[in-house]
Amino acid sequence: MKTTLSIIKADIGSIGGHIKPSAQLIDRVKDHLKTNLKGLANDFFVSHTGDDVAILFAHTRGVGDEKIHKIAWDAFIAGTAVAKEQGLYGAGQDLLKDSFSGNVKGMGPAVAEMEFEERPNEPFLFFAADKTDPGAYNLPLYLAFTDPMYNSGLILSPNMAKGFKFVIMDVSYTEGDRMIELNAPEEIYDIAALLRDNERFVVESIWSRETGEIAASVSTTRLHNIAGKYTGKDDPVMLVRVQGPFPATGETLAPFNIGHYVAGFMRGSHTGPLMPVKMNSSVSYFDGPPVVCALGFCVHNGKLTEPADAFDHPYWEYIRTKVSRKATEIRQQGFAGAAMLPYSELEYGGIVSKMNKLDPRFKVNQEEKEEKVGKKKKK
Ligand code: 13P
Ligand code: 13P
Ligand code: MG
Ligand code: MG
Repeated sequence: MKTTLSIIKADIGSIGGHIKPSAQLIDRVKDHLKTNLKGLANDFFVSHTGDDVAILFAHTRGVGDEKIHKIAWDAFIAGTAVAKEQGLYGAGQDLLKDSFSGNVKGMGPAVAEMEFEERPNEPFLFFAADKTDPGAYNLPLYLAFTDPMYNSGLILSPNMAKGFKFVIMDVSYTEGDRMIELNAPEEIYDIAALLRDNERFVVESIWSRETGEIAASVSTTRLHNIAGKYTGKDDPVMLVRVQGPFPATGETLAPFNIGHYVAGFMRGSHTGPLMPVKMNSSVSYFDGPPVVCALGFCVHNGKLTEPADAFDHPYWEYIRTKVSRKATEIRQQGFAGAAMLPYSELEYGGIVSKMNKLDPRFKVNQEEKEEKVGKKKKK
C-alpha cells in the first residue's frame, strides 16, 4: 500500500496584522478535521508559520485527491469563521474562490504532495515558509541535491552516486504547467541558469536517479496569477524525504544556514534574508524577516510520529542572529535598488497607478528630439 503525504496551507486570518493566527482559529481547524476525518486520512498534523496554517495529512488516497483537498478547504472555511468572529486581519485571505471545485490548486491554498511506497523507516522533512514565495527553496534544494560542499553524501554514500532529476516549472506561464526535466550532475549549469531566477523558475519536484523515487515536492502556486492582483505572498510549503537514497536530514538543512536573500518581507515587495525558525513562530520586524520552519517526522503504516523541530537547536540561534544582521543591513537602504523588488514583481498596485499618473508629466526636449530625428533621416 502506498502512502501519500499532503501539505495544504492557507492564510485565513491573523492577529495584529500578518503576524500569526489565533489559538482559537487553530483549534477550530483541528476540531473540524477531528470531527470530519472519518477514516479519510490515517493521520494529520496542524501547525503555523507566521500567519499561515499548514495541515500535513498522511493517507492512502494519492496526490490531488478531491476528498483530502475538500476536508482541508472546509477546515480553512471553519477557521475563517473564527477569524471573522474575532475580527482577525485578512480573514479568509488565501481562499480566493467562493466554492470548492475538485482540488484546492488554483484556489489560493498552497499544496505540496507526494506518494511513495514506505521504506521500513521513512523519515522526511516538512517545510513551511512565510513572507516569501516558492523560489525561496531553489537555492537550498540546488545545494542539498547537487553540491558536495553541502551534501557530503554525494561523495560518501553509494546511494546517491547517479544524482537527481530536477523538475522545474516556469511559474510565469499561466495557461498550464510549463515544465522542464534536468539531470544533476550533468546539467547543473542549466539547472543553475534557471534557478537563479527565483520569481520565474521554481523547483516543482526532485527524483532519485538511483531508485526513480520522489525525493522532494514543492508548492508552486503564485497567488497573483490566480487573483489577478496582490492578495498576499505565495508563502510556500515543501516535503523532502531524507536518508538512504536521499540527502541526510542535516544535509538538507545545511544550506539554510546561508540565510539567503529572497523575495517577500513587507507587503511581499522587498528583498530579505530567509530566517530558519522554530515551529509556530511569528514574524515581526518589517513584517518579517521571511521565515522558514522545518519539522522532521517519520511515517509508518500511514501514522505520523510527533515532529522533531529541526531549527529548535542552539546552532540556529547563531544563524538567527546572523540573519537578523543581514535583515537590518538591507533595510538601511529602504526602497532603493535591490532592497525593493523590481517593478514587475511589486505586489501592490500603488506604484503602477503612480507611474500612470506621472507618465504624462514627463517632458521631452523637442528641439533635441527633432535634431536627433533629422540626423537619423539624413543617414
Ligand atoms: P548515524 O550513524 O547516527 O545513523 O548517522 C548516519 C548519518 O547519515 C548522519 O548523517
Ligand atoms: P502574507 O502574505 O503573509 O499574508 O503577508 C502579506 C503582507 O503584506 C505582509 O506585509
Ligand atoms: Mg497574511
Ligand atoms: Mg503568510
